[in-house]
Amino acid sequence: VAAKGELSSRLSVMTFLNEVADDYPEAISLASGRPAPDFFDMDGWSGARALFDRYMQASSGASALTTARRIAQYGRTAGMINDLVAEQLRRDEGLPCDADRVVITNGCQEALALCLQALCSAPGDVLLVRNPTYIGATGAAEVAGIELLAVDERLESWTAAIETALHAASHRGRRIRAFYVIPQFDNPTGSVLTEEERVEILDVCARNRVVVLEDNPYGMFHFDGPTLRPMAALDDHGAVIYLATYSKTLCPAVRVGCAVLPKTLFGDGLAARVLATQLVQRKSLLTVNTSQFNQALVGGVILAEEGTLSRIVEAPRRHYARNRDTLVNALAAEFAGYEEFVAWNHPLGGFFLTLELPFSFGAPELVRCAADYGVAVLPMLFFSLDDSQRFRVRLAYSDATPAEITRAVAAFGRSVRDRMTELG
Ligand SMILES: Cc1ncc(COP(=O)(O)O)c(C=O)c1O
Repeated sequence: VAAKGELSSRLSVMTFLNEVADDYPEAISLASGRPAPDFFDMDGWSGARALFDRYMQASSGASALTTARRIAQYGRTAGMINDLVAEQLRRDEGLPCDADRVVITNGCQEALALCLQALCSAPGDVLLVRNPTYIGATGAAEVAGIELLAVDERLESWTAAIETALHAASHRGRRIRAFYVIPQFDNPTGSVLTEEERVEILDVCARNRVVVLEDNPYGMFHFDGPTLRPMAALDDHGAVIYLATYSKTLCPAVRVGCAVLPKTLFGDGLAARVLATQLVQRKSLLTVNTSQFNQALVGGVILAEEGTLSRIVEAPRRHYARNRDTLVNALAAEFAGYEEFVAWNHPLGGFFLTLELPFSFGAPELVRCAADYGVAVLPMLFFSLDDSQRFRVRLAYSDATPAEITRAVAAFGRSVRDRMTELG
């Protein structure tokens, strides 16, 4: 157990978490941010594939057999369902989006990896990130040997924070090429950037030719508060590459996501097309194309739903909202009288909440919580570039029942009080 407490790199975090889950299978997990499987409609979605076949037949004039064989064959690297995805993103996310700007990928993760490698291709190219941030983004950068720099959000504005990072990078002969951000229901923090913040980030990034990599897997799981437009919908500069996925709205196994490129890259139409070509060329050598069976499934669902997933996400959205309510109510009851020591945010959507503790919580504390109290939560340190997040944990409320959440919070509360007593 002690050895597991030593994490050498973020690459080992996933292995470590799997080991904890294997070692303590009876522990309730508020650690994993998986979508709730009750809403996976595999039969319905698989059935919708036939709709896509018919759609393809009608648009190509080919026979049913030829169409089926085309789908089973190697396919176009940039994707087969780009028009349907563009329509869904226009309808559901308000994104100005044409099919020819969409590159279909194996989940958002491939889109991320392709974009990072294309944007940060020269030695000294740096990716700017928030701290903490999604481990899939920092992990993809780490695998590609791309240096990371954290933006300092304690400064008075985003302009100051990003410009300070730009100066620090150039001082060391580095160039920040992209800023990775999850403006809507952030993973891991659950926070939202206001429209003013989004516009300010766009302005400062555009002025400095830093591409904004906007990741939006949770945008459709909005519970309350204002409906905000994605940064890509606010972008007049050609600064944003938008990353989307069907892992949360449908299910992770489809492994279908995409990158949506801006019409111009900082006003340069040719540069945007060159970047699109670079992504497609890289993809052609990495994964050839995204499974056309799975694209046909996603395309069929979009057709069956007439271009919007709003009906499909309604039941899971209500489930996640109810879980958020259960979690914040349980926390308020559990930590009544401890407000001075324990605090948390109130997520307006998505899967995650941030909890602040009066003591440091890392890998050994996670193991102890799972072993002695039967509950697993994630140290925010796992998402962090330094030790500034050591007093925080991420609670995921997506893949648990309300009863499990209530029990998990009671157990976690006991562990926190015991630890506080131990530390005096
Ligand atoms: C912020 C963020 N981006 C991307 C992903 C991964 O998406 P995909 O399954 O499409 O690769 C996740 C999944 O947890 C996520 O939280």
